[in-house]
Amino acid sequence: MLRLHDVHRRFGAIEALRSINLTLNSGEVLALLGDNGAGKSTLIKIIAGAMAPSSGTIQFAGAAVTRFDPRYARSLGIETIYQDLALAENLDASANIFLGREQHRRMFGLLPVLARSSMRRAAIAALESLDIHLPD
Ligand SMILES: Nc1ncnc2c1ncn2[C@@H]1O[C@H](COP(=O)(O)OP(=O)(O)OP(=O)(O)O)[C@@H](O)[C@H]1O
Ligand SMILES: [Mg+2]
Repeated sequence: MLRLHDVHRRFGAIEALRSINLTLNSGEVLALLGDNGAGKSTLIKIIAGAMAPSSGTIQFAGAAVTRFDPRYARSLGIETIYQDLALAENLDASANIFLGREQHRRMFGLLPVLARSSMRRAAIAALESLDIHLPD
């Protein structure tokens, strides 16, 4: 499903990732562990399209990934759940799940407004499919 070959990422003199090789098969769950500054976030940002590698190749579902752009990664089915600090605490779970790609509906067939109930239903369905139950 996902294959990284010899991925490097430098920030000037800092070598954040050195020759990362990783294969993730369909249905597999992989946990990435490492010390502070080990490069975990940098690796996830590259996989999620938020950042490009300095060198190396990435394949997703057998095809080479040549664009590093979050919307493109999302269109491939790559989703990222951010650490606590990146959550918008003033918004509920459903709004956080749809942050940046909110669904809209047209009020009076004209005015675009947030489709809150349809986002909420989709969020509940997604959470239920993962067997996650949130208190009301
Ligand atoms: N945008 C950036 N500019 C310069 N250096 C960066 C940048 N992002 C990360 N680094 C450096 O790259 C290295 C890896 O950082 P990264 O954030 O990927 O580590 P991490 O494993 O996620 O750490 P933590 O456990 O603290 O979240 C660190 O030395 C960090 O300072
Ligand atoms: Mg991190």
